[in-house]
Amino acid sequence: MADALELKSVSAGYGETVVIEDINLAIKAGESISVIGRNGVGKTTLLATVMGHTALHAGTLALNGRDLARVPPYRRALAGLGFVPQEREIFPSLTVLENLEVGARAGHWTKERVFELFPNLKERLSNMGNQLSGGEQQMLSIARALLTNPTVLLMDEPTEGLAPVVVETLTAVLLRLRGESDLSIILVEQNSRVAFEFSTRTLVMDKGRVVYDGESATLRDDPERLAKLIGVSE
Ligand SMILES: Nc1ncnc2c1ncn2[C@@H]1O[C@H](COP(=O)(O)OP(=O)(O)O)[C@@H](O)[C@H]1O
Ligand SMILES: [Mg+2]
Repeated sequence: MADALELKSVSAGYGETVVIEDINLAIKAGESISVIGRNGVGKTTLLATVMGHTALHAGTLALNGRDLARVPPYRRALAGLGFVPQEREIFPSLTVLENLEVGARAGHWTKERVFELFPNLKERLSNMGNQLSGGEQQMLSIARALLTNPTVLLMDEPTEGLAPVVVETLTAVLLRLRGESDLSIILVEQNSRVAFEFSTRTLVMDKGRVVYDGESATLRDDPERLAKLIGVSE
């Protein structure tokens, strides 16, 4: 079977500027991985490249064996990519219910299943998007992406800026999502503790390149190596 998502020798950026270089990455159906790395190393650019929001300078991308290069960004969601952007991008003047229904498609993820994961949202269906707390907006953004019934879900720093207790709630939801219905997930995280708990495989990026692709536990148990990889200067 083809990998759910496969990037080969991908270089991409903004206009002429190359930000990520020579990225090779294959994710199986149902596999979850985390991507960590300092600010500005290209994590968001990697996800944006999969979604078609950057200039592809070299390499190939395939979703379930289908070449993505000729698929315009607006059709990549239809092709099976779900995206939870770093800015969440909740529609402020739509209700929670309306936000959820934008782009919803039939499949494993129904509103009922999503409300089981996020009971809070069910209580707030008639609230406007901009009346939600940061944590609720994040949950809405994830719920909305799930309802498009993607085969690959990309999440960009979902725990960023949330209170510790909300991070715990959200982490528990992410753990429940892993491997459900063959969903593949790429989780970009600043919080390496969340990343290592989420997936057995972690990628570390530095200066636009993948500098580690392997067991999460290896990095978790070797803080010195981790610090070197993420380029923390002492
Ligand atoms: N829209 C853009 N146009 C030009 N450069 C950008 C844009 N977005 C990000 N960059 C640059 O690309 C590099 C990687 O950024 P980004 O992918 O956001 O990193 P990360 O998500 O790891 O913090 C940074 O140097 C950043 O300034
Ligand atoms: Mg980012």
